[in-house]
Amino acid sequence: MCGIVGYIGKKEVVPILLEGLSKLEYRGYDSAGVAVCQDGKVTVRKNKGRLSVLEENLSVKKISGTLGIGHTRWATHGEPNDVNAHPHENTAGNIAVIHNGIIENYMKLKEWLIEEGKVFKSETDTEVIAHLIDYYFEGDLVLAVQKSVAKLEGAYAIAVISKSNPNQLVAVRKDSPLIVGVGKGENFVASDIPALLKHTRDVYFLDDGDIAILTQDDIKILNEFGGEVKKEVFNVTWDVKAAEKGGYQHFMLKEIYEQPNAIKETLSPRIDNEGNIDLNEINLTKDDLKEINKIVIVACGTAYHAGLVGKYAIEKFAKIPVETDVASEFRYRDPFIDKNTLFIAVSQSGETADTLAALREAKRRDAKIIAVTNVVGSRISREAEDVFYTWAGPEIAVASTKAYITQLVSMYLIALDLGLKRGTLSKGKYKSVIKELREFPDKAEKILNNVSPIQELADKQFNNQSVFYMGRGIDDYVGREGSLKLKEISYIHSEAIAAGELKHGTIALIEEGILIIAVATQEHLYEKMLSNIKEVKARGAYVIAIAKENQIEIEKTADKVLYIPETINELTPILSVIPLQLLAYYIAVARGCDIDKPKNLAKSVTVE
Ligand code: AGP
Repeated sequence: MCGIVGYIGKKEVVPILLEGLSKLEYRGYDSAGVAVCQDGKVTVRKNKGRLSVLEENLSVKKISGTLGIGHTRWATHGEPNDVNAHPHENTAGNIAVIHNGIIENYMKLKEWLIEEGKVFKSETDTEVIAHLIDYYFEGDLVLAVQKSVAKLEGAYAIAVISKSNPNQLVAVRKDSPLIVGVGKGENFVASDIPALLKHTRDVYFLDDGDIAILTQDDIKILNEFGGEVKKEVFNVTWDVKAAEKGGYQHFMLKEIYEQPNAIKETLSPRIDNEGNIDLNEINLTKDDLKEINKIVIVACGTAYHAGLVGKYAIEKFAKIPVETDVASEFRYRDPFIDKNTLFIAVSQSGETADTLAALREAKRRDAKIIAVTNVVGSRISREAEDVFYTWAGPEIAVASTKAYITQLVSMYLIALDLGLKRGTLSKGKYKSVIKELREFPDKAEKILNNVSPIQELADKQFNNQSVFYMGRGIDDYVGREGSLKLKEISYIHSEAIAAGELKHGTIALIEEGILIIAVATQEHLYEKMLSNIKEVKARGAYVIAIAKENQIEIEKTADKVLYIPETINELTPILSVIPLQLLAYYIAVARGCDIDKPKNLAKSVTVE
């Protein structure tokens, strides 16, 4: 949540901050602001609304300087308005702070600072940081920041500038993402790589407690105990275009269309010339495997839906009991986990606070930890023992699509590998599933080459108040993902149910004209799904079915069928989700929604 950019160098800072923030707007977009240090003062401009409002403001009331910080906000404490927007200042207005995270003890600190004579303007937790730094400031900004963060409880990535230190930018992190960009005669801080790509590909990943002290020509990093740390520079190899829209109307659509390639990128490095899986990133020996008696997959939102399919695939191929849990629930339920548990955290961003906390809980209980993530160097990737990168490339749209599909592919690869190693999967079946997986980039492409039936349906169905998704087995898991996509970007109420559960309650809501999306790809459950479709149709529902190409008789029952290419039952989720993503997308387009920046959401949820 919230995007942070900071710059120190020789160039005009405002355009650099605005350009960087435009690349981070997916992190939060209810207000934005900048602070610039120049001519012995710190000037702050901030506005409620999208970044464009701030841009407009800065084009009228220009500010100039070569040191500054910028922020795009996702509100936690205090409504989105001009005053609560970042940066926040101390009473005298000579220290400016931007922050991503939550300061849990801010009320106590605020009361104390008010007693000390500090005057607060906003309702935010962040403002205490500016006043704290002011309280401890005796000429040394770094020392004041160190003393201040020692008082903070919670999560933070913070960047600070001060009028008294016009040649210094100080940044610190704990449990919220922050990277340092290395330039020539200029240096940067940012929440995420896309904000820096235009200027540098060399970055340092900060660890919890690290303080980065940036000048034009130098970067010094201190750990939480004040000792200097030498870090390796990480060179980002992304194509800059990967983080741009490239002619598509929205990032989401671009990312949907990138899925065939994303599948390829996830598969190719892991399948050798003989068609065998080689997961050298996962260090599980045969002995380790003998000891594992349970797998726990933990994730949030879309990644959780990938975890559900992971459960199915691992239980099917590797015959190990798997629990899949949402991360926000996992650690509060006193989970039964020990050294014989394999814990898999699934997270696109690798920064999701709940998933990270769950991973730490599992670690505390001695589980073996694997992270399945898309972001190299992310917190989750660095805290796990082994990391399985999904290689989807940067995903910018808040609604996850290509990252999800690569999470599914990753789950299947892990399941097949475990199955073979444990001897629960025959070599023949293993080979045939891998062979089929390799066909998926083409099969996904085939769906994407025929979107007009989906568009037409969206144009007719975009006015629904409520939509239900139903399916059985893995089709139910895909329905849940389709339902989440729809509600996220179109704001239509939507629910996904296991089709067999329908008559235990939800059927009471089915009435004339209501839209049902029935995912019906599983041969062994096909007849049962037909009965469920008939049940809702008998009550007036309009049913769109998702089925395999050879299941044409479903046309006799459903009102409309969207087909996916023929494939084996176990792998259908990778294909059947694509029409659901597209349907959600085109419905949101028809409703005129801001698809890449849905209301109240942010791409990376770094607060609990
Ligand atoms: C996906 O469309 C959502 N924006 C959201 O559910 C997301 O999947 C969830 O917040 C988890 O994020 P992560 O994969 O980065 O951990």
